[in-house]
Amino acid sequence: MRDLTESNVTDAVLNVIADDTNPRLKEIMEALIRHSHDFIREVNLSPDELLYAARFIQNVGHISDDKREEGVLLGDVLGMTALVEILGDRERTGATESSLLGPFYREGAPAREMGFDISLDDDEGEPAFLQGRVLDSDGNPIEGVILDLWQTSPNMFYEAQVGQPKDYEDYAYRGKFKTGADGRYWFRSRKPVDYPVPTDGPVGLILHGTGRHSWRPAHLHYLIYKDGFQTIQTEMFNSDSKYLDSDAVFGVKESLIIPYEKIDDPARAEEYGFNGPFYEGIFDFVMKDDASVKDAEAAYSERASMSSS
Ligand code: BEZ
Ligand code: FE
Repeated sequence: MRDLTESNVTDAVLNVIADDTNPRLKEIMEALIRHSHDFIREVNLSPDELLYAARFIQNVGHISDDKREEGVLLGDVLGMTALVEILGDRERTGATESSLLGPFYREGAPAREMGFDISLDDDEGEPAFLQGRVLDSDGNPIEGVILDLWQTSPNMFYEAQVGQPKDYEDYAYRGKFKTGADGRYWFRSRKPVDYPVPTDGPVGLILHGTGRHSWRPAHLHYLIYKDGFQTIQTEMFNSDSKYLDSDAVFGVKESLIIPYEKIDDPARAEEYGFNGPFYEGIFDFVMKDDASVKDAEAAYSERASMSSS
């Protein structure tokens, strides 16, 4: 039997992958084997450290359930999610940039009328009015776009985390809004606040162990979709957050930062249904139609095949 050595073990593993393996799976597995072997060589990983890593992954699974995805959080704090999105955005130039989905998206949020207060009249926090338009790449309004959005309450938690049954059932701080012919959306809420990602699981060990904080800058999440257009998954960040330059999960992009202006105007407050000053945030989203995204993808593949030949 052939002796395995540091220099031939990687090839030994690569060689047992069947030739008729799905090409994409083969590409990913080969790269995973090569890079993980290089990693082990670089850090001279000990058997105890390898076992620790295996148990770490086991614990990531144990703490996960339908309301918490520790594996997603792990990719987020290591900047992997951010990198995957940056690569995807390369093909979508001109559309609103994307950002993390995060682990707290819930399907099934109820449809809300424009102007609805997604805080469900929360007594806490600063009243906020959000508005803007959804436009195509030529600047025309798009009708019938769904904005599925969610944020934490001013107590820094998503309603799914704290387990308040009423808010959970009522999808507090969540809702779906549909644009009319003018492409406009507007809704009421509370100004988003900074909040920490969960640190009571194995991912917390990485943050604590490497001297990192767990804070995310205040933000609102959006999934924006309509048939025939590329879905936008993004976040909108408060310009006054002190964590814009140190988001624990690397989601911030300059184009996604918006100011919240304090409006002290009794007439506008009354018009929007507030009983005092409120904050206003304005943001226009730009969607690319599927055809233009496919064109960009084709152009990119052509460039890539030219540069590799
Ligand atoms: C969030 O924004 O909800 C989030 C994103 C990544 C990790 C944890 C939380
Ligand atoms: Fe979030």
